[in-house]
Amino acid sequence: MTKRRGSPSRRGRKAWAGRFDEPTAAIVEAFTSSLAVDRHLYPQDVTGSLAHVRALVRARLLTAAEGRRLTRGLERVRRELDAGRFRFRASDEDIHMAIERRLTELVGPVGGKLHTGRSRNDQVALDLRLWLRAECTRLADGVRTLERALVATAEAHRTLLLPGYTHLQRAQPILLAHHLLAHREMLARDRGRFLDCRARADELPLGAGALAGSGFAIDRARLARDLGFARASANSLDAVGDRDAALEFLAACAITAVHLSRLGEELVLWATEEFGFVELPDAFATGSSMMPQKKNPDVAELVRGKSGRVIGALVALLTTMKGLPLAYNRDLQEDKVVLFDAARTLGDSLAVLAAMLPGLRFRADRMAVAADGLLLATDLADALVERGMPFRQAHEVVGSLVRLCLRTGIGLRDLDAPTLASHSPLLTPAMVRGLTPARSLARRRVTGGTAPAEVSRQLRRAQRELKVDR
Ligand code: ARG
Repeated sequence: MTKRRGSPSRRGRKAWAGRFDEPTAAIVEAFTSSLAVDRHLYPQDVTGSLAHVRALVRARLLTAAEGRRLTRGLERVRRELDAGRFRFRASDEDIHMAIERRLTELVGPVGGKLHTGRSRNDQVALDLRLWLRAECTRLADGVRTLERALVATAEAHRTLLLPGYTHLQRAQPILLAHHLLAHREMLARDRGRFLDCRARADELPLGAGALAGSGFAIDRARLARDLGFARASANSLDAVGDRDAALEFLAACAITAVHLSRLGEELVLWATEEFGFVELPDAFATGSSMMPQKKNPDVAELVRGKSGRVIGALVALLTTMKGLPLAYNRDLQEDKVVLFDAARTLGDSLAVLAAMLPGLRFRADRMAVAADGLLLATDLADALVERGMPFRQAHEVVGSLVRLCLRTGIGLRDLDAPTLASHSPLLTPAMVRGLTPARSLARRRVTGGTAPAEVSRQLRRAQRELKVDR
């Protein structure tokens, strides 16, 4: 091969340089390179190439000896990458080119046969699906770990009361366990979303070629089985131009991150002096560089804050995809930046919350006091309904009693007989004295209610599903 005018001497010659007169400008090389990000895909890339070699041998496009030579070469490249001994070059462009370049250095010209019937477009789509499949499993496991921590915390504090809130105003007494299990329900759905995403992503794109399908007779069904995919993609344009699996994954990440953020927000509130429901473990709180008294809930705040990045990742990729013509466009290279960041960020948030929960010290006394008093107003109205009063009227009667209590500072339980009688002949001191948080809870035996027996049932169901030993 003659060395052309202007061909790069220090920077390597591109695999696609044939139709170019001039080498790539250094600024373009830097701008278009994805190596800094997609180098993390090397295990998937090697796995995909090894399977491609087997497919090429089966299709008699490689001899068995060539197949062995490429296989050994790829395994050696993988060892170099595993050991951190691999020397990347600025001209490598992306992980796919880097691996093929190094392979060819190791095995000689037969390295040039690896890319037969393959494009980087179907190659990167394959790598991404292999990565997504594994990450869906990893994050589903991370979610499960946090679910277990929530269930264990609920089990350890089965009798603690908590004011339940609507509009962040005290509403009705509930069990702390009930509240924690509400978070676990959200997480159970999140786990389902990751598993659904994995099932839909379970499709082999390799063989789609650049866009129109490989021109060589590769048995894609066989290749799909070889790589453990449920099926081969049905349309080559879709296979290389689509990133739905990535979008679904990011949507699952974003929804989970929003759930974690809400849990984080509650921990921040509960740890305030104003709420005073929980004391954070020292190992999971930080101090102030100026104010000696401070103990800050930084972990919970960062879990809340990092959700913004994960949501941003979903919005970024949706925006990248919007308006892209079929099939592959270089825009798609931006997918990995946000995918990798979102997956790592979410995985870290799940792990740190799961580690922090066992150390929370709940302040039962403060929670019990906050869960009493006017929060029992609904129960008084319900008691009137049981004595035959229509609910709307009962609501009105109790509402005016509440107004009286607020004006005078008298508690609902301490209202005297004449006062009660003046509001309704059905009201008696025994009725108001019977108002307690425990009775309020016990009434709520409906499926999914906060009655202790019902919460225990929820807890047992969660423990069974998560296979937690009690
Ligand atoms: N680095 C590219 C990416 O991540 C690989 C595919 C490049 N394909 C191409 N025709 N330039 O999307």
